[in-house]
Amino acid sequence: MQTQSLWEHTLTFFPQFLATLKERVAPDATVAVVGASDGKFVLPLAAAGYRVIAIERDALVLHGGEISLPGDNHTHARGLIDRLKLEELYDKVRVVEEDFLQGDPLNISCDAIWTSCSWHYSANHHRPLAEFVDRMQRLVRPGGVFGAEFMMPVEKRHHLVEHYTSPERLRHHFIGDWDVLLTLRTNEFTERAHIGQPQDHTHRMGLLLAARTPTLSRALGKKDS
Ligand SMILES: C[S@@+](CC[C@H](N)C(=O)[O-])C[C@H]1O[C@@H](n2cnc3c(N)ncnc32)[C@H](O)[C@@H]1O
Repeated sequence: MQTQSLWEHTLTFFPQFLATLKERVAPDATVAVVGASDGKFVLPLAAAGYRVIAIERDALVLHGGEISLPGDNHTHARGLIDRLKLEELYDKVRVVEEDFLQGDPLNISCDAIWTSCSWHYSANHHRPLAEFVDRMQRLVRPGGVFGAEFMMPVEKRHHLVEHYTSPERLRHHFIGDWDVLLTLRTNEFTERAHIGQPQDHTHRMGLLLAARTPTLSRALGKKDS
């Protein structure tokens, strides 16, 4: 890639999600990314051949603009749309500039959905975490894949907000027609200063990957009508 995401160097379980996609969905499947930001995951997914739906509420990370980086540096950041154009991936991605929790659930369906450290944002605290998860699940077709990496509580204030969750608590949302494929967690680790976090700081992260039960016709290899 010629361009880099502002989040390029933050820790991620994305390779585990990508490996699950390769096992379970078609090479040209549609993958939705909730909280797409400037495309840390959108670009590699599109470059790998997937059709991508990028859902993001923040106009700055989509269209670019002035940002402050650690060390009081101000710079112009490229947004997702410019990055897609520069990397010649724009025609593979549909950008949905919306708050995922606002209004009716999006009228979209996909073969897989991914989010990275999005639902703990304070803008989402006015709605239960279950609603965020449920809205993601509803977009996934039978046989499809759900992947989320998320912040776990570290500081006292995090324990008061259910959106800082754990693989164990999240599992309760995956009963019925969902199979949890993999959960992982880190210990506490130090992440270097990055956009939005001017100092080195401590995180703990979790991952949950799940698959939606296929319908009978899909399980038998027939196309849904
Ligand atoms: C921590 S950043 C993403 C960093 C991550 N490593 C990446 O590049 O995907 C999370 C993103 O989720 C977005 N986000 C959080 N809540 C959202 C919502 N309700 N609807 C749409 N986007 C949301 C934020 O605006 C932010 O750009």
